[in-house]
Amino acid sequence: MWKHHARFERHSLWLIIGIIITVSIGGLVEISPLFYLESTIENVKGVRPYTPLEQAGRNIYVREGCYVCHSQMIRPLRDEVERYGHYSLAAESMYDHPFQWGSKRTGPDLARVGGKYSDSWHVDHLTNPRSVVPESNMPPYAFLAKRELDYRAIEKHLASLRGVGVPYTDAQLKNAREDLETQVDAFAGERSGLKTRYGAKVTQRDFDGNPEMLTEMDALVAYLQVLGTMVDFKTYKATDPENLR
Ligand code: HEC
Repeated sequence: MWKHHARFERHSLWLIIGIIITVSIGGLVEISPLFYLESTIENVKGVRPYTPLEQAGRNIYVREGCYVCHSQMIRPLRDEVERYGHYSLAAESMYDHPFQWGSKRTGPDLARVGGKYSDSWHVDHLTNPRSVVPESNMPPYAFLAKRELDYRAIEKHLASLRGVGVPYTDAQLKNAREDLETQVDAFAGERSGLKTRYGAKVTQRDFDGNPEMLTEMDALVAYLQVLGTMVDFKTYKATDPENLR
């Protein structure tokens, strides 16, 4: 066999053909399974599409460029898991369009910030980060508490997300505006269908401490408070590849 090797080394055309054949075998092995595998993401219990209010908050997160300083992906490395909690699962960002994994951490990872602080901590922090974390260099976003949330297009927004694969139901689309309004109304409770449509774990309260007005702050805090809380890691068990061998 080695005597044929000389042919490859002496003629660049043979070498190029050889390289093309070798590389395409690798490519085929990697790419062709994607055509018949139904999904490369396993479904995990608890992961659901965002409620209209959370989605509106997410839009503000993207608009304000929070991803420039914050990642939303905990890598399976010991220091990260000890600091932030269970590493991120692919399923946890399966309904994120666009995903917010980020590429830089000027501030900490936010993938599991939900439930870590109270709503009022978030409001204080976003209004003036230095009031709660003196050494912080995060910019203030006080204006969010004064701006009314514009959600006229929320139904269309959810519909377009459905177009790219987020499984919103017809009922969720039809009630998008109402669900958004009742999520900030702690007293709407049983009256609203929010929990029937999005699950009992959905939080329903006034997020920004000002029940008079539905603000951008309400939406952003609702979004921050749901991050990383959908999967119950007390019961979740990853199939350990070590055990498969
Ligand atoms: C210029 C970089 C920068 C930008 C932009 C930025 N942050 Fe931060 N953020 C930080 C830094 C630094 C910290 C750590 C200090 C602190 O807690 O304020 C932080 C902390 C946080 C925390 C607390 C995290 C924790 O686990 O303690 C939250 C929540 C947060 N930011 C949300 C946001 C949101 C929402 C936006 C967009 C509206 C945003 N940040 C934009 C730099 C930034």
